[in-house]
Amino acid sequence: MISLRRATLDDVDWLLELLNDEDTEPFLGGGAPRDAETLRAQLERSQSEPEKSGRMIVDVDGERAGTMAFETVSEPNRIARIGGLAVHPGYRRRGIADEAARRFQRYLLIELGFHRLELACYGFNDRAIRHSERVGFVREGVKRQAYQRHGEWQDAVLFSLLREDLEP
Ligand SMILES: CC(C)(COP(=O)(O)OP(=O)(O)OC[C@H]1O[C@@H](n2cnc3c(N)ncnc32)[C@H](O)[C@@H]1OP(=O)(O)O)[C@@H](O)C(=O)NCCC(=O)NCCS
Repeated sequence: MISLRRATLDDVDWLLELLNDEDTEPFLGGGAPRDAETLRAQLERSQSEPEKSGRMIVDVDGERAGTMAFETVSEPNRIARIGGLAVHPGYRRRGIADEAARRFQRYLLIELGFHRLELACYGFNDRAIRHSERVGFVREGVKRQAYQRHGEWQDAVLFSLLREDLEP
């Protein structure tokens, strides 16, 4: 039983552990929150202006299993960027990310009324690229050597999903 909810300050310690986990942190963007202060600021924004940004918790049978986030990148064009996706290592390979991502897409495109979702994965992140394709994101291209990560230039694989791409 998977459910999606806004993270609260009670989730900070759990989130910090997950986001800094050795099988999670290397795959997240260089600017993703990793410390309590940045994370608390993100959660406060998520609570005070829930239609503009959000840090979510994926619960499985009432236990925290994963997280994902969004930010508005263009209000006039109703574009949101999804990021900060991670499933706790103990909950991986069960389809939790896929199910949660599909719910998140519908929440953003239907309930919050975004028109377009954007997502970027490092070129080396095969798991995340396969996951993004499985849940319907359309690959738009590669931003070549766009980010310094792990001491090297990394490609970013760009995906999007439009309201009209959702199955009825
Ligand atoms: C990317 C990530 C979120 C995927 O989480 P996940 O919950 O394991 O994803 P899923 O279970 O939906 O799918 C993962 C694999 O399990 C398989 N799977 C799905 N359901 C399954 C099931 N019931 N039983 C066994 N395997 C299953 C999928 O086919 C998939 O296989 P693949 O990796 O060979 O393609 C997770 O690996 C993670 O947190 N990685 C680190 C952070 C990260 O990369 N974030 C993305 C940044 S862009």
